[in-house]
Amino acid sequence: MTKVLVATEKPFAKAAVDGIRKIVEGAGFELALLEKYTDVNDLYKTVEDADALIVRSDKVTKEVIDHAKNLKIVVRAGAGYDNLDLAACTQRGIVAMNTPGQNSNAVAELAIGFMIYMARTNFTPVTGTELTGKKVGIHAYGNVGRLVAQKAKAMGMQVCAFDPFVPAEKIQQDGVTPVQTMEELYANCDYVSLHIPATEQTKNSINYNLLSKMPKGACLVNTARKEVINEADMAKLLAERTDFKYITDIAADNDAELKAFAPRYFSTPKKMGAQTAEANLNAGLAAANQIVDFIKNGVTKFQVNK
Ligand code: 3PG
Repeated sequence: MTKVLVATEKPFAKAAVDGIRKIVEGAGFELALLEKYTDVNDLYKTVEDADALIVRSDKVTKEVIDHAKNLKIVVRAGAGYDNLDLAACTQRGIVAMNTPGQNSNAVAELAIGFMIYMARTNFTPVTGTELTGKKVGIHAYGNVGRLVAQKAKAMGMQVCAFDPFVPAEKIQQDGVTPVQTMEELYANCDYVSLHIPATEQTKNSINYNLLSKMPKGACLVNTARKEVINEADMAKLLAERTDFKYITDIAADNDAELKAFAPRYFSTPKKMGAQTAEANLNAGLAAANQIVDFIKNGVTKFQVNK
């Protein structure tokens, strides 16, 4: 029988797992669950006879692929697929997919929440500021970036966006001002909300040179990936500029060092951008449906290792 393994170190909500089970078993497949695992050997063992795999930020390394003798498809229930070793998948003829857009609203809401948290002095009675009238720059105008822009506009913020892959007219259509360069975005915005993926090109790209262009009192909001930040540069900037703020959903590797700059630095204890009942359900069900569609009908929409 076709076995679908859901391996989630950070589990989905129960309703999402129930929904995945319904889809998988409804297709005549078997569902296996590996949740909250702390030892990668448990994943190696469970994946051995799996035909399909659903993960979140769980790392699907070459070692995982090597153990997965029957694997035909892996779906990252979410947007960013930097946790999948695509080369190893391709080499074995395994189809890798993501579920774009399914958890975007949850992440966008958290980005807005982060801005409010920093503007309102970490929810302390110290006098804060308001978002209305402030300028926010959206760095990468994809599914999440667009939703952040929409919500920021509704709050009366002025919204700019930089994305070399999205035509300026498309950005303008949403009432958002496109800017030509990253430098322009950072130099002119009180808040920058990061939505770039972690790739060889973007890793460490948010550096001192760029961040130091931000105006007085500026705040960087990261609900994307920690790898895109040059963390040594961030520490340097936070030390030099007592007005600068950084809030992130993905604790920096030098989190302990940066915590010395609290309340201007804040990180969530565990990545929680996509951790809503709605996002779990949307992404989980989409992943299950994509697997059934692939195994039964050969549908490869959303394949990322073409
Ligand atoms: C994504 O890329 O979809 C988000 O970062 C969510 O990641 P998560 O599923 O680990 O919460």
